[in-house]
Amino acid sequence: MIIFRKRSKTIPIGNWDIKHFVVAYLNTQTASKQSHPLTTGLIVRGCYTYLMFEIKPLCKSDYDFAVELANTMDWHMAAEDFIFMDSLEPEGCFLLRDDTNPVGIATCISYGKIGWFGNLVIRKESRKKGAGSALVSHAINYLRQKGVETIGLYAYPYLVPFYTKLGFRSNINFSVLHNPHLSPISTKPLPTIKKSDLLSIVRFDQAFFGGNRKKLLQSIILDPNNTSCCISQDDQILGYVAATVYEKAAWIGPLICQSQRPDIAVALVNSVLSKLATKHVYTVIPQDSALAELFFSAGFSEDFFVTRMFLGQTSTKNCIYLTESLERG
Ligand SMILES: CC(C)(COP(=O)(O)OP(=O)(O)OC[C@H]1O[C@@H](n2cnc3c(N)ncnc32)[C@H](O)[C@@H]1OP(=O)(O)O)[C@@H](O)C(=O)NCCC(=O)NCCS
Repeated sequence: MIIFRKRSKTIPIGNWDIKHFVVAYLNTQTASKQSHPLTTGLIVRGCYTYLMFEIKPLCKSDYDFAVELANTMDWHMAAEDFIFMDSLEPEGCFLLRDDTNPVGIATCISYGKIGWFGNLVIRKESRKKGAGSALVSHAINYLRQKGVETIGLYAYPYLVPFYTKLGFRSNINFSVLHNPHLSPISTKPLPTIKKSDLLSIVRFDQAFFGGNRKKLLQSIILDPNNTSCCISQDDQILGYVAATVYEKAAWIGPLICQSQRPDIAVALVNSVLSKLATKHVYTVIPQDSALAELFFSAGFSEDFFVTRMFLGQTSTKNCIYLTESLERG
């Protein structure tokens, strides 16, 4: 995909934003490197100057750049994070280059009719020139081609206007909680989810999340380093939780539980917490979550909050919910 970026803005051009301007430009020109020499250099048109952007799937040789860029945001990412994203959604991680250099990244994932967008970063020197919007639009097109109807993301509050301009609408706020050294919790852990339970968990999850997260859930639940548990009654699942466990840290989520059963959600979280003593533990909960009190009394505190936004119809059904991650929902 080739896009042009706004390099300098000297005189306003009425109601046209960059997208309209580019569409108008592309309608009259052939936008490919081979057939139009202008696309490789500066394009001066009216009062705007454009340079070319190119967006392509992120490949292994780009991981060092992607990790370095992501970690300018203190996201503590490693190449394994992009390898994991790539295993779930080959072609769903993007690199944006300006004329010669890589300057931006973003990732997305499709779950049938629902998709999720995240990990958007543009190098500081290249911001406010249309690159961020270009990556979001590219991911939207990619997900639409995969049949996605609703796209979710978690936005820093100051970026809500940025995503609103691109069509996303705010839903609810989530707190990013962490406990740097979890104290032991004396609860007898619930049994781990078995491979044979996986399909029922996926169906239960889909009924609330709205999309089919099988590829994600099986990667987390079947990984022996991670931990998970569920509670069922008369063969009906009432709730489940999984946590991704690293050497010194852990991320609790996803969790989905029927909204009328906070007692089940508390039992699930206590079971997982009992396995994570001494670790640096993160989780992301809706600000009005029935689980907030439990996490605060276990020593968690809020780092910051984010706003869940959707492009398209809001997909989730009312339930008790912990995110799987900010970039995958
Ligand atoms: C968010 C980010 C990707 C935007 O990239 P960008 O290339 O600067 O975005 P664009 O140039 O396409 O901006 C499009 C519009 O959003 C506005 N905008 C961009 N960043 C903004 C910000 N931080 N605050 C408010 N508005 C912003 C721009 O002013 C522009 O509006 P305009 O068209 O009226 O001039 C970039 O600022 C960034 O990398 N930030 C740090 C990482 C981050 O926060 N990621 C998002 C996680 S939710």
